Formats: sequence, structure tokens, C-alpha cells
Amino acid sequence: MNTLNPLIAPLGLAGVVVADTAIGDVRGDEGFFHYRQYDATQLAEHCTFEQVWHLVLFGDLPAADGTEGAQSAEDAAWTARTQGALAVDETIRTAVTQVLQVTPQADVMTMLRTGVSVHGSLVGDAALWDSDEPAKEQIALRTAGFLPWLVGAAYAVRTGAQPRAPRPELGYVGNYLWLVTGAEPSADAVRALSRYLCLTVDHGFNASTFTARVVASTGADLSGSVVAALGALSGPLHGGAPSRALDALDEIGSADRAEQWARDRLAAGERLMGFGHAVYRGLDPRSELLKRTAAELGGATAELALAVEDTVVAVLDEHKPDRPLRANVEYYAGVVMESCGLPRELFTPTFTMSRTVGWTAHILEQSRGTKIFRPSSRYVGPPAPQPLP
Ligand code: ACO
Repeated sequence: MNTLNPLIAPLGLAGVVVADTAIGDVRGDEGFFHYRQYDATQLAEHCTFEQVWHLVLFGDLPAADGTEGAQSAEDAAWTARTQGALAVDETIRTAVTQVLQVTPQADVMTMLRTGVSVHGSLVGDAALWDSDEPAKEQIALRTAGFLPWLVGAAYAVRTGAQPRAPRPELGYVGNYLWLVTGAEPSADAVRALSRYLCLTVDHGFNASTFTARVVASTGADLSGSVVAALGALSGPLHGGAPSRALDALDEIGSADRAEQWARDRLAAGERLMGFGHAVYRGLDPRSELLKRTAAELGGATAELALAVEDTVVAVLDEHKPDRPLRANVEYYAGVVMESCGLPRELFTPTFTMSRTVGWTAHILEQSRGTKIFRPSSRYVGPPAPQPLP
């Protein structure tokens, strides 16, 4: 046993503080989470994705002009920088497309790992340890700006189509919708998807954010840190499947079948997808705004989700009277994404895009420290040393 460190952390490190961060926090008991000094749900409702990107990466919102509807010089400069990142050089697009076409049957999350790695090599991503602050900011911006095109390209390759060229003038959200659907995005779809993306940029020290920071703590390059985080997020216990809640709604079919469906699933020992949360003990603040957004978008699936929610919650209350299980972010996320024209297989990759902005901010923050993560384990194998056989 390692006698240097007799502390034994709980399984999964639950509740253990392993780093300081000024990027954001989740206050589960209060049903509240924030980015920097602002309520994340208010940011999602009132700011553009680009503004939230600036806040998370640099610590403040681009300065306002003070005149209604006018853009400040700082905001305009930031818009120009983000559009540059969204543009993705043609040579990079061609090379990455060729690599993705080697395994057109791979799932999109796997293609994202490959694509981010190739992109890092093509743009000369260097070890964080050897990079100065402007170089680190530049690669953080380029990598996060590359993701919307990459998700669109991976989907195109999977469906046997040619990836589209980006249209940065549509902004981060509009450009992404264009890349996937090939249609001019509606203002309603851009607003709805922007809310979802803003709400999912960061959420405490979850497994993928921690993973990104562990790799960054070694001084490795930013792309390597993002690729590791992508691997963590792809697992069913994490990025999971926002599509599962939508699959459940398909199964239910109509509101009058919801109660029986919920009782049958619980009797079979199953969990109801889209309900409950590891940190929030009441409402998940993300689901509240997405619920309103789904209602605004309307449509059959949104109506079904709204009609089914209370019935399912009532059955869950009976099932677990001591544990309030409420709709979580995934319950309405799928409804919103589908209403915006995104296919189900892109739900987790879409979540990955916004989370990449959060990861890159965490990677930069971690890279400013010099301490490598190096916890201990408890040895539980046969006593050692024993004579060789
Ligand atoms: N349906 C039925 N029972 C549930 C559900 C649910 N959705 N959620 C929790 N429970 C039960 C658990 O089985 C547990 O019962 P037990 O004590 O008899 O074993 C009890 O409620 C307490 O569970 P928690 O401690 O709250 O659950 P935990 O924190 O471990 O898990 C989780 C949280 C994984 C989100 C869980 O609620 C769940 O599996 N929900 C369904 C899947 C889902 O919607 N995932 C997306 C979450 S949002 C996100 O991660 C981005």
C-alpha cells in the first residue's frame, strides 16, 4: 500500500475537489449553474453563442456598445475572429474529408476524434507546455470553430454525401444548421438551437472536462486534450444519448398511454430516460428553458413531450417518494434538436460542439498551472514480492 498518501477518495471521486476553476460552477441543491459570474440560463436566453464563447474563454462578455442594436468594436472584432475560425481552410477540409472517407461506416463521435486529431496536425498544434498565451488562444479558437464543419462533414460522409463548405456569415449556430441540412436556417431554429448550445457549454467537473484537464496538466497539446475528452463524452454514462428520451416518446406514442408505459417500464426495473439527475435534486434549470423553447417551436413531438411530462413525474413520485425525479436536460433537448432539423445521430455530436468550447477554456486554464494530476491507487492484488515461478 502507498503509505505516502493514506487518504482514500470515494468511488468516482464524488465530492472531491481536484482543481480550482473560474470558468463556472453547478449548485445542484439550488437548481442553479453559472458561467463565470453570470447565470447560464440567462446567458442562453439573452446572448448569442459567440458572446458566451467569449465569456467562457476570456472571462468577460464582449463589451456592449451601449446603443440599442449597435455592435461594439470589441464585439465586431470577436465576430470576425469567430467567423475566421468557422471558415476552415479548404486544404484542411479536403484532407480531413479524405481521412473520414476511409471509414464511412464509423459513428460520428468516432469520426470527431479522428478529425480533431488530423486537424491538430494540419494546423501545427504544439505542446501547451511550449506555447505562449496567444498561441494557446488561437488553437483553442480554431479547434472549437472547426467542430461545426467537422460534425457536418462526418454526417455527410456517413450518408454518402459531399461535405458542404461553411458559411461563417450565418454565425456559429446558423452555419452549423446550414452544414447539416443544406437549407437556409430559420430565425426560430437558430434561436432555439443557440439556447441549447449555450446551456451545454460547461457543467462542472464532469468526466470529459476532468479528462481534458488531466491531459492538459501533462503539458500535451490542446488537440490531444480534446480528443481524450471526446472519448470520455462518447460513453453511454456521459454524453449518453439525448436521443433515448425521444425514442421513449416514440414508444409512448400518445399522452393517454404515458401512465401505463411508465408503470410498465418501472415494473421491469428500467429507468425512464430524460428524468432524474446526479446533481440536481429538484428541477434541472436547463430543462426549464428548453421546455419553453420546445413549446415555442410547437409540433407534434413537442406537444407530446409537454403532455407526457407531468404524468411521468407523478408515476416517478409514487415510485420514489423520497427522491424527486424531474425532467432533465435530455428530455427536451432531443425535441428541440429534432424540431431544428437535426437527425438523432447528431444529438450527441451537437452537444459535443458546445462542450468543446467549455473544454478548450478548461484546457487553457489548466495549462496556466504547472502541477500534473497524479493520484494514487490502492493495490488489492496478491501480496508482493513473491518468488518468480
Ligand atoms: N427512472 C427511474 N428510476 C430512477 C431514475 C429514472 N429516470 N433516476 C433515478 N432513479 C432511481 C434510481 O434507480 C435509484 O433507485 P434505487 O435507490 O432503488 O437504486 C434512485 O432513483 C436514486 O437515484 P439517483 O441517486 O438520483 O440517481 P443517480 O444520481 O445515480 O443517477 C441519473 C442520475 C443517471 C441521471 C439517473 O437519474 C438516470 O439514470 N436517469 C435516466 C437517464 C437520463 O435521463 N440520463 C441523462 C441525464 S442528464 C445528463 O447527464 C446530461
